[in-house]
Amino acid sequence: MNTLQFDDTRRLRHLLTLDGLGGERIGALLDRAAMLRTAFAAAGAKPRPLAGRTVVNLFFEPSTRTRTSFELAARRLGAQVVNFDIASSSTNKGETLEDTLATLEAMQADALVVRHKANGTPARLAASARHAAIINAGDGNHAHPTQGLLDALTIRDHHGDFAHLTVTICGDILHSRVARSDLHMLRALGAREIRLCGPKRLLPTAEECAGAIITTDFDAALDGSDVVIMLRLQKERMDEALVQSESAYFERYGLDEKRLRRTSRDAIVMHPGPMNRGVEIADAVADGPQSRIFAQVANGIPVRMAVLTDLLDP
Ligand code: NCD
Repeated sequence: MNTLQFDDTRRLRHLLTLDGLGGERIGALLDRAAMLRTAFAAAGAKPRPLAGRTVVNLFFEPSTRTRTSFELAARRLGAQVVNFDIASSSTNKGETLEDTLATLEAMQADALVVRHKANGTPARLAASARHAAIINAGDGNHAHPTQGLLDALTIRDHHGDFAHLTVTICGDILHSRVARSDLHMLRALGAREIRLCGPKRLLPTAEECAGAIITTDFDAALDGSDVVIMLRLQKERMDEALVQSESAYFERYGLDEKRLRRTSRDAIVMHPGPMNRGVEIADAVADGPQSRIFAQVANGIPVRMAVLTDLLDP
């Protein structure tokens, strides 16, 4: 929970985490995203509620889909977008993050979209922001709230209500901010059962994941699942996972067509990307009829539009 993201009237002022947001607020953001998706798919003039506003992308980690998705969302709403070039920025000359923020605020930046390898960096910026809204685009293994929201929209598009759903998340849960934001989202929306699966060394503690079932048995986890979210095996974690090779990992934790048959008839497969085909997911599943992987990417844009308008044009 982060109280920093609310103002005195409990309005959302920053988006740092889904923890503590609640099902109603998440549902309202999804409704807004679905409404914007329809409005932008229709022919004719598009609304431009953020005309004259400035959104700055501040990515201290490499990213393609998330940065591009925020950029397209902001531009389609009429905002001006600046991609802050970290490699040639003054943060490399010893400037503090707070001074970088103050500098961008002095240039009238309305929102900063921040990705950083250190947990808590967006919250730290939110603590010293004067008027700009801070949006967390992924910090360390802590949170990736817009990914959680776009996953929610993708699940809702297919299954509707969450109350009857069993959701399995498989892979490197320990280091995954996506898994944590999905967990908050699934709890808030009332998913019936959440199963977290992966090699023992890549699983979080039971305390951290209260309410979820934690298992190393992927086949058992898949039984009757309605949603399967596969996560990337970060290659540098291979040793920690105690697996000898990518093929050994695939053998135990890879999702192929045979394994997929254990899920419920109407199950969908998701992956936040980037995918390692043949390591955590087979081509036939990634490109198969149950895959919603590119629907997730598509939903990223209206979801980020919804967040940007909620913060900047309430
Ligand atoms: C993820 C991330 O960077 O948190 N990707 C994404 O934003 N869609 C997951 C990953 O890097 O494996």
